[in-house]
Amino acid sequence: MREKRSEELEALEEVFDRSTLMVVYDFMNHGFIDEIHGVVSAGKESRVYWAKNSEGKELAIKIYLTGSSEFRKGMVQYIEGDPRFSGVKRDTRSLIFTWARKEFKNLEQAVRAKVRVPRPIIVRNNVLIMDFIGKDGVSAPTLKERIPSNPERIYEALLVELEKLYRKAELVHGDLSEYNIMVWKAKPVIFDVSQAVSISHPMSNFLLKRDVENLNRFFRKLGVNVLPDNNLYGRITGHGQA
Ligand SMILES: Nc1ncnc2c1ncn2[C@@H]1O[C@H](COP(=O)(O)OP(=O)(O)OP(=O)(O)O)[C@@H](O)[C@H]1O
Ligand SMILES: [Mg+2]
Repeated sequence: MREKRSEELEALEEVFDRSTLMVVYDFMNHGFIDEIHGVVSAGKESRVYWAKNSEGKELAIKIYLTGSSEFRKGMVQYIEGDPRFSGVKRDTRSLIFTWARKEFKNLEQAVRAKVRVPRPIIVRNNVLIMDFIGKDGVSAPTLKERIPSNPERIYEALLVELEKLYRKAELVHGDLSEYNIMVWKAKPVIFDVSQAVSISHPMSNFLLKRDVENLNRFFRKLGVNVLPDNNLYGRITGHGQA
């Protein structure tokens, strides 16, 4: 492997197992990653690193923790019932790999539908590389981190994104909240889509209604004159009221 060792890479080597590291090294050897610069976020289920490729372009590397077995329980229901992932293995490791692949596919489908999400670059096992949303290693703020000064416009823009996500990408986010929406260049970017399901998933309707309620609750608190839940549901799906 090329000798491009940063302190951050060394720190990463202390957190992840050998097989995860092999994937990271392979991505380095193939030029997907040139340097890993820092941890952006260390959650229960994943860590996100700020990196650059060989052209200096900023990347986010999301690495799912394979030791996190808690996460297995909640995960299965989002995989089962999604026709894209029928017949996958059920051991914890395989499920986590499927989870990462699912996030990648969801991002791909969303990008194809021109939804504002991070562009996915490559995924293997539990390691996913995507565009970095933000600049110089500082992630764009989430709605939770920074209340937008123009909440009405962000709300309106989100409705357009959700319409594309449902009608064109045929996906329901399933965990939509102020934690999973960033604002970049005055427009919303939806992320953290590993749990997003195909609209044909038996839970998709329930999940969409929950997303709609969460979104409306957040923006109502900011004083936005939100659409009633039913109308918002209808606006997103084009199917009339829930
Ligand atoms: N593509 C990206 N560009 C910039 N920052 C990102 C990107 N993806 C994720 N992040 C940062 O990492 C954080 C966690 O990402 P994400 O929500 O996808 O992971 P998670 O496993 O759900 O973590 P958590 O449990 O903390 O929500 C985000 O809040 C954001 O600050
Ligand atoms: Mg998240």
